[in-house]
Amino acid sequence: MNKHASILQVKHLKQYYHQGTDKEVKAVDDVSFEIFPGETFGLVGESGSGKSTIGKAIVNLYQPTSGEIIFQDKALSSSYNKKERLKFHKEIQMIFQDPYASLNPRMKVRDIIAEGIDIHGLAQSKEERDEKVNRLLEDVGLTIDHAGRYPHEFSGGQRQRIGIARALAVEPKFIVADEPISALDVSIQAQVVNLLQELKESRGLTYLFIAHDLSMVKYVSDRIAIMNRGRILELAEAEELYANPLHAYTQSLLSAIPLPDPDYERQRQRIHYQVDPEKLAEEILKEVKPNHWLAQ
Ligand SMILES: Nc1ncnc2c1ncn2[C@@H]1O[C@H](COP(=O)(O)OP(=O)(O)O)[C@@H](O)[C@H]1O
Ligand SMILES: [Mg+2]
Repeated sequence: MNKHASILQVKHLKQYYHQGTDKEVKAVDDVSFEIFPGETFGLVGESGSGKSTIGKAIVNLYQPTSGEIIFQDKALSSSYNKKERLKFHKEIQMIFQDPYASLNPRMKVRDIIAEGIDIHGLAQSKEERDEKVNRLLEDVGLTIDHAGRYPHEFSGGQRQRIGIARALAVEPKFIVADEPISALDVSIQAQVVNLLQELKESRGLTYLFIAHDLSMVKYVSDRIAIMNRGRILELAEAEELYANPLHAYTQSLLSAIPLPDPDYERQRQRIHYQVDPEKLAEEILKEVKPNHWLAQ
């Protein structure tokens, strides 16, 4: 991993939404971070903290209020021409939280997975298209005879595998995985996480891995940023963050992770953290240790 040349930079990203005439929601409020090639960068925060908004800005689904996103030394733009847009969407793909909502129920799995192959002209013949789809199905732990079926015939975990195959079909370099396991049974979550890990290694991918708690991200992330109300409160290498959480909010997220030992779980105290919006508004990012950032 080259620590010096990032693959993605998010610089002072802001996304303000207007609800009604005067209500402004600062969904993302001056967020900056960078991700290095081959890295898994965890972005963690409770529901509504702005994680998906950042993910969508990175895949260029939104034009941000302000700020910049630079992918492979090139700034993302809303004014891409068709060719530039196509090239961009081939390199960054998104896996969505809800495997039920993100697959078209009227399309067969083969055509769902091949959508990107068709758009980008990656297969010269029907045979090549089928062959690519079959290989992708196998790569994500499904089988060739799944190709002719519809999404409703699959379990949640299998649907998420279909979503992963669809994302991989265009051979991307970077994947935004937006809570890819949150909607799945706990028993299935580890399988999907393991699959994502294997694929990352075999295909040399880089991930932005979004999660609403710290239970699984530890095992997949190299570095983790903790978000709350549109801001990053703390950013550190995963081991360091778990060993030495500096922000009270990070501590409260850590205390909420279910523990395997039920006796210990009963005795344990939950730390509750309430954000003071006035105070938060004044926060600035300050470096406390090399590679460990805390908003004060
Ligand atoms: N299209 C939208 N219009 C208005 N408000 C939105 C929109 N999308 C998200 N929001 C608001 O922005 C905030 C952050 O949302 P989101 O990025 O989805 O958070 P997360 O993914 O962390 O749950 C929330 O308050 C949400 O209600
Ligand atoms: Mg979200």
